[in-house]
Amino acid sequence: MTASPRAPETDGGAGPDLRPAARRLLRANWREGVSRDGVRYGYTRPDPIKYPDQFLWDSCFHAMAWCHVDPTRARRELRTLLAAQRPSGLVGHTVFWGAPVRLARLPGYNVIGRDDRSTRSIQPPLIAWAWARVAERSPDDPGFAAEGVAPLLALQSWLERERADEDGLLGILQPDESGLDATPAYDRALGWRAHPWPGFLWLVHANRRRGYRYWRAVADRAFTARDVLVNTGWALAWEGLARLGVAGADARAREVTLALVRRLWDPGRGIFLHRGPDDRPIPVEAWAGLAPLALRHLPEEVGRRLVEDHVLHPGRFWLEYPVPSVSAAEPSFRPGDTGWPIRRYWRGPSWPFTPPFVLPGLIRLGYADAARELVARVSRMVAREGFREYHNPRTGQGLGALAFSCSAIVVDLQAQLREAGPAGQRDGQVSPARST
Ligand code: GLC
Repeated sequence: MTASPRAPETDGGAGPDLRPAARRLLRANWREGVSRDGVRYGYTRPDPIKYPDQFLWDSCFHAMAWCHVDPTRARRELRTLLAAQRPSGLVGHTVFWGAPVRLARLPGYNVIGRDDRSTRSIQPPLIAWAWARVAERSPDDPGFAAEGVAPLLALQSWLERERADEDGLLGILQPDESGLDATPAYDRALGWRAHPWPGFLWLVHANRRRGYRYWRAVADRAFTARDVLVNTGWALAWEGLARLGVAGADARAREVTLALVRRLWDPGRGIFLHRGPDDRPIPVEAWAGLAPLALRHLPEEVGRRLVEDHVLHPGRFWLEYPVPSVSAAEPSFRPGDTGWPIRRYWRGPSWPFTPPFVLPGLIRLGYADAARELVARVSRMVAREGFREYHNPRTGQGLGALAFSCSAIVVDLQAQLREAGPAGQRDGQVSPARST
């Protein structure tokens, strides 16, 4: 599907206005009904054929897109996500509302039995961040902000109890918990168990036997990692709770951000790196290393290094259609599809999940030209190629799913630019054309 290439331009040079096309896409992918156990649900399928279930971080971005075209649905999407919360507080990576997990997919899904309504694994915990954004755009539903607080805090407590180490950062027990299933960052640590090869099923099987308990995986010296993106989500969730009025949440957001800098920032390379099972930094420069740019409490000098040494570097992440999932300077970088017969994701193409983390940093730090250029390039690419799952960062060619809901997030990027207005402009900005 091609989003109308003749759409009028938005204000401020952010490319064509994609709201009408985004509304059509999100409406087509919307699904609602009553679950087997009587819960009324309504959510957006990431893609009706390839991904019919509700995925945690996709849903957060869907809600942030919906709030520009139909805020009622934005709230419904997030309420449905919290309706899947387990009594323990966990909200799983994937929720199976309409039907149990498909039999063919069962071996690779992080459930204990087929009657599990959601997986036992996590994804970047962005719900509170998305909830705050939707609440701020919900003047017609003033109770929405307060309604989220108790369940969102219950999720934070679960993460703290089940995943946080003494440094305050969360651990993951599988690469898909980061959202970036086959990222080359974990190639070495996983070896033959890398996603989505047959060995990955072995990893899932081993974690199923552990009941997906992270501390059991640590005790077994199995694969675990401190992932930059998951921990960025952890800090963003505290930021979201602060915006929802939770006392002490902003201090937590700051603490987690500073722990990220202390533990995962590599001052030599100027990028964040995950730590693997041996607690050593993993020297692979992938976009997750830029994600902390979204954090309000990120020290300014750290943010500037990220932007100037990486985001705007034409040999690394500033390609024709940014932001690629891996730096073009990495030997593992592949701009197109990889893997046959099963695709290996997040090894170079630009995904719609990446700009929402980078853009707030560009705006906050005053890189107004780069912010505008990023949104314009993404918008033109979507207008030309349609709402695809991911794109070749050199040519913009659309790849993967054909009607991918998360690509509608482009309307939120355009809104962020409009909201920043001229305030996004400050002295000392580096325009992408000048950077080397
Ligand atoms: C792929 C992506 C994951 C996403 C899911 C649904 O598995 O790697 O991040 O949540 O698709 O879109």
